Amino acid sequence: MTTTAPFRDSSIRTEKVFGGATLPKTLAPSDPAESGADALAAGVRGQGVALASLLRDHGAILFRGFDVTGPAEFRRVVEAFGWDDMPYLGGAPRVKVDERVFTANEAPLDHYIKFHHEMAMMKEMPSKLFFFCLTPPGEGGATSVARSEAVVAEMERRAPEFVRRLSETGLVLDVEYPLETSKDSVFGSSWKTVLGIDDPVLAEQRAFETMRCSTFEMTEEGTAKIRYGPFPVIETVQGRRIWLNNIDGPEMKMGDEAPVPQEAVEAYRNAFADVSVDVDWQKGDVLLVDNLSTQHARRPGKPPRKVLVSMCK
Ligand SMILES: [Fe+2]
Repeated sequence: MTTTAPFRDSSIRTEKVFGGATLPKTLAPSDPAESGADALAAGVRGQGVALASLLRDHGAILFRGFDVTGPAEFRRVVEAFGWDDMPYLGGAPRVKVDERVFTANEAPLDHYIKFHHEMAMMKEMPSKLFFFCLTPPGEGGATSVARSEAVVAEMERRAPEFVRRLSETGLVLDVEYPLETSKDSVFGSSWKTVLGIDDPVLAEQRAFETMRCSTFEMTEEGTAKIRYGPFPVIETVQGRRIWLNNIDGPEMKMGDEAPVPQEAVEAYRNAFADVSVDVDWQKGDVLLVDNLSTQHARRPGKPPRKVLVSMCK
């Protein structure tokens, strides 16, 4: 689709095409003199319907060259879309830096964060995610995106028998949340932080209200063991078949307690290698991701990477 002022179609070197639509769609200011967060926000207010349609078709939109400079400007751009804020619930350690704005994940930058739909283990997922590059990584550290429909197609082609079996058993995921939050891991938040509650009894109630979990156990050491699932993994959301949950991790098991077969994990990794696109950050970039159609991951990288996030219902 052709865009109108203030946006100009642009591209990135790593983009790929799925169903005739590039991932991501990249938009730049049509007049470089009219860049800046206020120009971007004004453009968003004027082109909201067209941008929502682009997002639906492409899965992600990269706004590059607008030189958004800080959390407050980023928030104004997010607010220009007019979508409701979605509070974060989950295990990633995050720090609030402004209204609606958080650090993306405080886990060490050399850790790879695998592909996922944000909050896929919760009963309510955000429909859209905004990422903003305040400081680019010294090296690596791309945010990678992948169309979830393409992952389903690849898995059905590469591992049809596994997909069939998984549709029968579902997938389960066992997580033990610590009593105190640690920034040393990708999922280091305590159950108190994850659930936003200190009382263990109310925590259990909150877990069943908000999470797609089937069991909750508070241990004598004060950790909380939660079993998520069984999930069907492939789900139809807004008319699209998406691969909702990660199968690549020691905590993931088939619903009949069997381990996920190694060949299936290999097929899954290869599927993402084929269909994913790395977005190498430039300072001031804003990346909008349709969380209901598109997964994201964080490649390992080096400081000083600072990427902020905001989520919408
Ligand atoms: Fe994420």
